[in-house]
Amino acid sequence: MSAVTLRNLPEHDGALPPDAPEWIRDIDNPYLHGVYAPTTREVSASGLEVTGRLPHDLHGLYVRNGPNPVHAPPHRHHWFDGDAWLAAIRFERGEASFQSRWVHTKAFEMEREAGHAIWPGVLGPYDFTLPIGPIKDTANTDITWFRGRLLALWYDAGTPYAVDPLTLDTLGPEDFDGQLDQRLSAHSKPDERTGELLFFNYSHFEPWLGFGVIDAAGRMVHRTRVELPGPRLPHDIGFTERYVILHDLPFFHDVELLRDKGKRIATFREDMPSRFGVLPRDADGSEVRWFEAQAGYVLHVINAWEEGDEIVMDGFTSTNPLPRPDPEDGSLKAMLAYLRLEASMHRWRFNLGTGETREHPLDDTNAEFPIINNTRAGLPTRYSWSQVIPPARTLTFSGLMKFDSVTGRRQLFDYGPGVYGSEAAFAPRPGAVDEDDGYVTTFVTDTADWSSWCLVFDARDIAAGPLARVRIPQRLPAGFHATWVDGARLDRR
Ligand SMILES: [Fe+2]
Repeated sequence: MSAVTLRNLPEHDGALPPDAPEWIRDIDNPYLHGVYAPTTREVSASGLEVTGRLPHDLHGLYVRNGPNPVHAPPHRHHWFDGDAWLAAIRFERGEASFQSRWVHTKAFEMEREAGHAIWPGVLGPYDFTLPIGPIKDTANTDITWFRGRLLALWYDAGTPYAVDPLTLDTLGPEDFDGQLDQRLSAHSKPDERTGELLFFNYSHFEPWLGFGVIDAAGRMVHRTRVELPGPRLPHDIGFTERYVILHDLPFFHDVELLRDKGKRIATFREDMPSRFGVLPRDADGSEVRWFEAQAGYVLHVINAWEEGDEIVMDGFTSTNPLPRPDPEDGSLKAMLAYLRLEASMHRWRFNLGTGETREHPLDDTNAEFPIINNTRAGLPTRYSWSQVIPPARTLTFSGLMKFDSVTGRRQLFDYGPGVYGSEAAFAPRPGAVDEDDGYVTTFVTDTADWSSWCLVFDARDIAAGPLARVRIPQRLPAGFHATWVDGARLDRR
């Protein structure tokens, strides 16, 4: 391990992990070092070392997507830019196996052929002469299960990539047998109750927002456009048994700069309300009903459901999505400020009878990346498990929080000093009746010795600490979204 001294390094690190690429050494960007440092390794291993007891009825796959850049960036690097890299742990009969693989997107393949990076990242400069798109469509953000395959999705609405859940081999761009001729956003969501995929996309060109449904048999049964006042940056949707909830939030790229100069500068318009569009899942976009709420940015929805005339939506809102940049952060101050996420749990109620919105905070912990028991998605839920965000120069997750929205009680588990977590996943226990009867899994990385672990908790009592810690046979860089695939589904496949 060799030390590096760089102005923008996060406080928790000054050393290169041994498996990191040499090219990061001189790049003064905290999102390429410490827990974010890319790894050059792909690993397959079985019979992983377990401390504690792995439950025998924990059966399935916990898989996480995230950025892991292969090549030195040609321009300024943003955490959102790295090539998609999947880390997956499979549990069966008290044993665990692990696999990690890059997603072979078209851009990944072309850059591999060239031996260097071709595309700029989200900080630009956007190059419209490049094939595929002006910045790299990485598919690095979200991972979801639909019809026997994993889908890797990009936050900026891109090409979905299908991945084999057992081998993590990239099967190719997913166009659903030629039915999808548009991009698809991260947080397009499967409804486990119906087997449908509810998808959305957004763009800087009209139509600004699209929504559609692919049914359990893989047929595109619905697609529509939804009118907005201009280009927006929605990141997530909510859905209930009958409705989808679309987002028009007052945090978007400066429209004039975008139109006249092609520059993408995010602005927060505190003078504008947040708007949530409630649309029947099978209806034309013209039927959307907009509900106004307090200005903020909702990165992730927890869940939504119907209660009489009301649609209830729980999520995390940030009323200050663009904190003042710290001049000490130099040329990266805009990115570092943008990623210093301050978000808290909130509930909205949209009354379809009166058209009114009621809203209130649920909790004041700075947290995000929530998950629920996905078998209850779209139905009333009381529990969520989220990642706690500590005060720091960069965005990290220092602990797990279980929240009960009925009692308002939270349970916390701290990962420990220098140990950072990942979005968790909920694995229901076979035959479970209670919403929180199951396991919660998360990956953590200890920056003191670069060890990585999968922690397995009893979802009912995370404060008791993990039931098992499974040693991952490589260092895992910090990542984005994760999902759980039930073992019975893997077996059926
Ligand atoms: Fe997300």
